[in-house]
Amino acid sequence: MSGIEKLNHVAVVVADIEAALAFWRDALGLELAGVKDMPEQKSRIAFLPLGGSELELVQPTDPDSGIAKNLAKRGPGMHHLCLEVRDLDATIGRLKGKGIRLTSEAPMTAADGRRMIFVHPESTGGVLLELYEGGEFAETP
Ligand code: CO
Repeated sequence: MSGIEKLNHVAVVVADIEAALAFWRDALGLELAGVKDMPEQKSRIAFLPLGGSELELVQPTDPDSGIAKNLAKRGPGMHHLCLEVRDLDATIGRLKGKGIRLTSEAPMTAADGRRMIFVHPESTGGVLLELYEGGEFAETP
């Protein structure tokens, strides 16, 4: 009854997408669907679909972005998990009611119009958690 039914993606922060693909695509054998510049996220992202979810390799493109600072401070590696949520407002309300810390007061809107918010690692046991509204169950005809 949580309205959370799917792992949407796992994001790994990398310094260099092409170098990272030498492992994830070339050695491991995952399929690369594409690499997109995401100026609003100050990054380039490689999308590697996997069983209805996705692995995302995120390369910062602006040294002042949060993700670039994260890379400089902690090095490459796991950045966040993203779960797909049926009703983001309801989920946010439930979390706020339990005193869970979110990284922003209101959801952000992605380039594709979908909304997301991040739960602070302080409230999750060390995992930055993205909650993303969307997926086939949320699409309107
Ligand atoms: Co994400």
